[in-house]
Amino acid sequence: MSAAGLMARINRTFVLSLLIAASSIFLLFQLYNYRQYSSQNGLDALSSKGYLSGKEAHWHLLKRFLGLVHKFKLPVFLVDTASLNLLSQDAVLYRDSQLKEPHCSFLCTHRDFTTFALFGNLWKYDAALLDAAAERGLELLEVHGKDPRLISMDDLTAKEIPLHFLFRFNSRLVHVVVLYERSGKYLWHGPLRLRSSMDRTFAPFGKLDFGRHAGAYDRPELILTTLDGLDVRIPKNYSRFLHEHSSSRFLECHCKEAKAFYQLYPEDTSPEAVDFRMKAKSLLHLASKVLSVLGVPFWLSSGTCLGWYRQCNIIPYSKDVDLGIWIKDYRHDITQAFQKAGLPLKHKFGKVEDSLELSFQGNDVKLDIFFFYDEGDIVWNGGTQAKSGKKFKYVFPRFSLCWTELMELKVRVPCETGDYVMANYGPNWNVPVKTWDWKTSPFNVHENGVWPVREWDDVIQVY
Ligand SMILES: *[C@@H]1O[C@H](CO)[C@@H](O)[C@H](O)[C@H]1NC(C)=O
Repeated sequence: MSAAGLMARINRTFVLSLLIAASSIFLLFQLYNYRQYSSQNGLDALSSKGYLSGKEAHWHLLKRFLGLVHKFKLPVFLVDTASLNLLSQDAVLYRDSQLKEPHCSFLCTHRDFTTFALFGNLWKYDAALLDAAAERGLELLEVHGKDPRLISMDDLTAKEIPLHFLFRFNSRLVHVVVLYERSGKYLWHGPLRLRSSMDRTFAPFGKLDFGRHAGAYDRPELILTTLDGLDVRIPKNYSRFLHEHSSSRFLECHCKEAKAFYQLYPEDTSPEAVDFRMKAKSLLHLASKVLSVLGVPFWLSSGTCLGWYRQCNIIPYSKDVDLGIWIKDYRHDITQAFQKAGLPLKHKFGKVEDSLELSFQGNDVKLDIFFFYDEGDIVWNGGTQAKSGKKFKYVFPRFSLCWTELMELKVRVPCETGDYVMANYGPNWNVPVKTWDWKTSPFNVHENGVWPVREWDDVIQVY
């Protein structure tokens, strides 16, 4: 190749590179401009007319969605916490009644999703539904999970059921939580867990009201109403529903571990053990009823909690049912309510200010209620030895409360159950101990002085 030819070639390459560089810069500039423009519009949207159109878009999504579920006879109901909260505000109700124009006051919130619930037994797969959704421009994401109602110690496998549906239109979302009735007659929904193959950008998953954990609810009474011109079902007592939502987290019993436990220590199926379990079950159901009428939350404590955690069952040699209650939830009419329910007071130790415990006599089974006191990083409950007036203290790490199921009853346990059981029973909690002394055996027992003799009449009452 000649020198001139080489020069021309270099020149051509140079010009070409220059052109590519210039157009790239131009493109970047355009992109930057576009982003500036769209984010400005986003801001505008919040401040004036654009917001209305955002609301309008949301309203249209809801109309499409409600039309779809109506057509397929799927009676969803509103469980969106932001919308239900607005309903409970008189100011919003008043403002809404004053508006003449079509508007979206309740169903359009500051969020770009709305949450409904559906009873799982009413859901059936219908290809026509998927087609109809697509026809309406709704994209659908289904999240499945194992059916916990089919998991037992005899069968750890279970078929998959739909747990969540997400309908998307533009970037707006309707989240449908599927509720299933469990054997304790309460409603349960599963957690929203994305498979690795699923589109993580489909929805703002971290912001959703439901799905971070499984949840449990009492079956709400529903009413049909009109909100923002759309017919929707809502829980009649939406304040109660919101209250339930705030502490609805549900824990499944560890069936697999319980099965392993029973393989090491076979279940006691003697008539006495079966009889005790039956009596303990009915006592637990009765106690739950009495306390829920009073509105007093309680949880499974001590041996009853250990039984649930370790073996998904009641430990037959424990001989009593143990419950915990926060002292702030103590009411003077608790004793009377239990007595009315046929459970006479057996003893009362301590006082509201210190180490209170109540014990009621059921049918061959004792019901022990321990009141828990809050003390900084720890919580504790007290014990009293009647004959000596000695006081004891059982110390636990702080915990929050979760729902679970034991003996076909929806009951609370500490969410941090492992820590609670470990504090109480030590690292060998997984080994059955049949000789138990409440004053020395617990891992977390501390001596706590003696009641002054002048107080004994008050703090040591045995019937
Ligand atoms: C709603 O439920 C709460 C209990 O959470 C209760 O105190 C209230 O009276 C109920 N309201 C109505 C209207 O029934």
